Amino acid sequence: MKNKFTLSDRLLAWYDRHGRKDLPWKRAGDPYHIWASEIMLQQTQVTTVIPYFQRFVARFPDIATLARADMNEVLHLWTGLGYYARARNLHRAAAILMQEHGAEFPRDYDSVRRLPGIGRSTAGAILALAFDQRHAILDGNVKRVLARHNAIGEPLNKRDTENRLWRLAEKFTPHVRVADYTQAMMDLGATVCRRANPDCAQCPLNGSCQARRLGSPEDYPVTVQRKRLPVKSVKMLMIRNNHGQVLLQQRPPAGIWGGLWGFPECTEKDVQRWCRKELGLEISPELTWPVLRHTFSHFRLDITPIPARVAGESLRAMEADGTVWYNPEQPDERGFAAPVKRLLEQLR
Ligand code: ADE
Repeated sequence: MKNKFTLSDRLLAWYDRHGRKDLPWKRAGDPYHIWASEIMLQQTQVTTVIPYFQRFVARFPDIATLARADMNEVLHLWTGLGYYARARNLHRAAAILMQEHGAEFPRDYDSVRRLPGIGRSTAGAILALAFDQRHAILDGNVKRVLARHNAIGEPLNKRDTENRLWRLAEKFTPHVRVADYTQAMMDLGATVCRRANPDCAQCPLNGSCQARRLGSPEDYPVTVQRKRLPVKSVKMLMIRNNHGQVLLQQRPPAGIWGGLWGFPECTEKDVQRWCRKELGLEISPELTWPVLRHTFSHFRLDITPIPARVAGESLRAMEADGTVWYNPEQPDERGFAAPVKRLLEQLR
């Protein structure tokens, strides 16, 4: 490679002309904003995150407010963003920052890394973006950029490949303008070095990109045969009473949709029997709605929504902890998984 300028020089020059400099989490120069946004940006695109971020910091303007908040409200603001463990970790981490760091976001890598929900790349990104500290990052987009730039022919999920990519990421990270460089890497991966249809003509690294030189950048990173995701199925019972309210239950804190509110879920064939046994409710099921398929990272869930009415006089007062009769016409502040939210809207 006979390039007079280093990779970071070229990337920074590109960033000065094309990078995203108006992102809302940068405006206040508040490390708390950078942290919250980086958590939201794990697995989620910038355009999706922006409105969530804005509502989040409007409601929780600082670490202390977040730490004091009710988990239900945090999940409410997260509704639709997915990967709800992120919200629970953010809330837990805020409590740790209150206890151990005087309500300030720490500046040292080890303290940051110990917070729940923060891995090596996120810790590096936060410290680089918030404090201009020199740390490498390696999220999905950056892996793709580096795998192409160096034509790495090994699948990304191998330990050796991962180590090799980290070494490259460290090597390319400059000693000045680390925050800009970090943002530039992520922007390049998202907007130019796209998974499909990379725009190599616009890429500041095209002069040294090995995958481009070999003629087919899209062949990198090489993909491993994905196993087909297992499919699980569940019936969601949308049980309504005579007041137009629908029965919701809060899910246990661990596991999928932990802490979110949803419909009672039945995996048995005989829905009426199940309701009698589990809920002490006599119901009359109505016509089943079409199946909704929801995809998680590690399985698919086929949801069969079954509307039903409470039958006769069997309505037992059952607003125990974790159970409510909810009026879909009067939404309140609680967190729902995306398909539940959609079903509630349809029930209206
Ligand atoms: N992905 C993760 N962090 C990001 C950021 N700060 N900007 C764009 N994409 C990102």
